[in-house]
Amino acid sequence: MALYAIGDTHLSLGGDKPMDVFGGGWSGYVEKLRAGFEDVAAEDTVVLCGDLSWGMGLEEALPDFAFLNALPGRKILLKGNHDYWWNTAAKMNAFFRDNGLDTLSILHNNCQLYGETALCGTRGWFYEEDRGEHSAKIFNRELIRLEASLKAAGEREKLCFLHYPPLYQGYCCQQIVDLLERYGVKRCFYGHLHGGSHRLAVRGERGGVDYQLVSADFLGFRPQKILD
Ligand SMILES: [Fe+2]
Ligand SMILES: [Fe+2]
Repeated sequence: MALYAIGDTHLSLGGDKPMDVFGGGWSGYVEKLRAGFEDVAAEDTVVLCGDLSWGMGLEEALPDFAFLNALPGRKILLKGNHDYWWNTAAKMNAFFRDNGLDTLSILHNNCQLYGETALCGTRGWFYEEDRGEHSAKIFNRELIRLEASLKAAGEREKLCFLHYPPLYQGYCCQQIVDLLERYGVKRCFYGHLHGGSHRLAVRGERGGVDYQLVSADFLGFRPQKILD
């Protein structure tokens, strides 16, 4: 049994936004993802750190969910800034159930368990989101979500998964970093950064927390094993 993480699958199997047009690492990315999951076993767990499907709603995202569902392992889905299909937990769970997507579940205001380890997280926050007054509300909501998730873990060891990097060269989301440190999170995984941004990613230990980038193109579309 193993735990993996990967973000930013950016699937568009039911739509017209395939990422292959960006060339480079993205050409043939759907096949690369399929091959990248070859080491994952049915009993393993993979946390998918947001930007999963370009679908504008659950129905449009269904072919992408079906693709993810067919990959080995239990998948835990996190919201990214491009997941426009994201809905209430009740609607997403019902949709997954009604469509036989039985390896998919969501991380949303809660935590999930991997053995005795708690998997916590939320979308997070990045300076690109800052657009004045309205964004303060969304930012506060993200902080509340993250804290609710960390609280739900109780005294268990916590791993944190975010879509947005809490740290980036020249940027720090102090409130999120504070929460991670206050709740004793030792390892934090995030996605969102692509192409040239990879080299500006903060990776490694800061303030007692180990930060790692797991966006798909950074990982060569192969989920990173983070726990046995
Ligand atoms: Fe993103
Ligand atoms: Fe992304």
